[in-house]
Amino acid sequence: MNTIVQMTADGSPTLFVSALDEHYHSVKGARTESQHVFVDMGLHACTAPAPRVLEVGFGTGLNALLTWEEAERSGRCIHYTTLELHPLSAADVALLDYGDATRLRLLHDAPWEEPLALGPVFTLLKRRVDFTCLSLPAGAFDVVYMDAFAPEKQPEMWGEDRFALLFHALAPGGILTTYCAKGAIRRLMQQVGFVTERLPGPPGGKREVLRAQKPF
Ligand SMILES: C[S@@+](CC[C@H](N)C(=O)[O-])C[C@H]1O[C@@H](n2cnc3c(N)ncnc32)[C@H](O)[C@@H]1O
Repeated sequence: MNTIVQMTADGSPTLFVSALDEHYHSVKGARTESQHVFVDMGLHACTAPAPRVLEVGFGTGLNALLTWEEAERSGRCIHYTTLELHPLSAADVALLDYGDATRLRLLHDAPWEEPLALGPVFTLLKRRVDFTCLSLPAGAFDVVYMDAFAPEKQPEMWGEDRFALLFHALAPGGILTTYCAKGAIRRLMQQVGFVTERLPGPPGGKREVLRAQKPF
């Protein structure tokens, strides 16, 4: 995909995809949004001793980077599986400055389809797959970061069948978070069995975000 780097309001970069007229993150603060929606509202709400995280859309690797940093801060081991159909070029990755170029490069250089321990508390599995026609094993994850492009841009990523799949792939008590707070998406989550909550959005960003839980 053809992308352009843009600076967001918190000083961290994102990418703009002209073909979709869409950014990879909120222009109000890429890093702030990722930290808030996925790490603070998602990972922190998970009580599993060694969370297994599934990310829909690896993209720039920012969510993976923040999760790796969090694993080291907390000492909690994390197994991170991420799905991506259109990996960025090395040239695009080189333009992204999230404050830790070495780790970002390690995340992008990791092989596809092979788990790699990037340190004592963070293991990465990158899967180059199409989420729209993917199957996943039951109960294999504790946390889902649902970070596809917006439903208006890629509705096929946000269908009821995709939420049913994510529900099935989560263990009982598992958590899904997303930046998307649309009522229609919240109702789809509820239809497949999730219990949903609307939570305050990131500082300076969207008013609300969504967290969903698979009942125990
Ligand atoms: C909003 S961006 C993800 C941002 C990312 N989580 C980050 O931290 O930078 C959405 C991602 O979904 C990917 N994607 C689009 N269609 C896909 C598909 N059918 N299957 C898997 N990934 C897809 C895009 O290439 C893009 O990287």
